[in-house]
Amino acid sequence: MTNRIMLLGAAGQVGQALQSLETPQGWAFGLYGRRELDITDPSALRDAVQTFKPDLIINAAGLTNVDAAEQDSDAAMAANFAAPANLAAQCSSNDIPLIHLSTDYVFDGDDAVPYQPDDGMNPVNAYGQSKMMGEEAIRHELAWHVILRVSSVFSAFNRNILTNTLKLIDERDELRFVDDQRGCPTPALDVARAINVIAAAILKGQSGGFGTFHFCGAPGCTRFEFTKAVMASYARYTTRRPRIMPATSSEFAHLARRPTYSIMDCSKIRRVYGLEQPQWQDGLTAALRQMFQSGSANA
Ligand SMILES: NC(=O)c1ccc[n+]([C@@H]2O[C@H](COP(=O)([O-])OP(=O)(O)OC[C@H]3O[C@@H](n4cnc5c(N)ncnc54)[C@H](OP(=O)(O)O)[C@@H]3O)[C@@H](O)[C@H]2O)c1
Repeated sequence: MTNRIMLLGAAGQVGQALQSLETPQGWAFGLYGRRELDITDPSALRDAVQTFKPDLIINAAGLTNVDAAEQDSDAAMAANFAAPANLAAQCSSNDIPLIHLSTDYVFDGDDAVPYQPDDGMNPVNAYGQSKMMGEEAIRHELAWHVILRVSSVFSAFNRNILTNTLKLIDERDELRFVDDQRGCPTPALDVARAINVIAAAILKGQSGGFGTFHFCGAPGCTRFEFTKAVMASYARYTTRRPRIMPATSSEFAHLARRPTYSIMDCSKIRRVYGLEQPQWQDGLTAALRQMFQSGSANA
């Protein structure tokens, strides 16, 4: 029997990473980027679900630009709250389990110990607010959900902390990066592998793994520390050697506030699914190799 999996956000980082993995035997993906399906259009979403008849839906679509969300919170709410709410309702009336991606930005980052999946949410920006409301709507509508909170996703594709950093290394002689906020960079490929493990368990009918999980890279670091690591790995591909300096978050005028301490505890996903936290340095090395082999790097 073929398992039919509907992938929303197919053109995004996680969507592309999922497509780059070998498709497990017996799985057939329906790929939906924004061009194929605007998830904020309820009737288009309903029609797509009814036509494809999935056994499982993976929602990797969403408005992910944190400052754009601050500027246009209605758009963030439409993509990150109303669309997942509608999706969960569709899943509920058609008995379809859902894997939905969320974020560490549902937390305020004021703590000093890693966040657990059932810790209280208190987002500090519009993006986090919209993602928190999306999560709450899914929990309310649908028992058969996995909400997978990830963090600072990077890959060789799209706009992310790695590709943005490479661009700055190529363009500037001095770079200043925040050194007073900690997060957990997470390779998109590892997120995709984790999704496949969760999807396989759901498709086998294992019902013990629903709920909310954290999955992010280790160790926690600041953007300054991440940038130093990017430069060290990138050095083999470029002659550029800009000066990299630490800065405080107050020196930058971002539209959206960022949490200070954005570290998630990932022991639940290890316990339930046997998934270990990936080391982001490994993902960084692999992404750079992929960029230069495919010729998609900035340099
Ligand atoms: N990126 C991160 O650092 C990060 C951190 C924590 C959590 N997450 C979560 O992880 C998930 C995947 O993130 P990602 O890094 O793969 O993001 P991404 O590369 O920005 O991909 C998201 C995809 O969703 C699409 N999309 C946005 N609005 C849509 C709509 N109305 N209809 C259909 N498609 C739409 C985007 O298309 P367009 O490009 O055309 O807008 C994009 O292809 C998201 O739920 C995000 O909130 C990401």
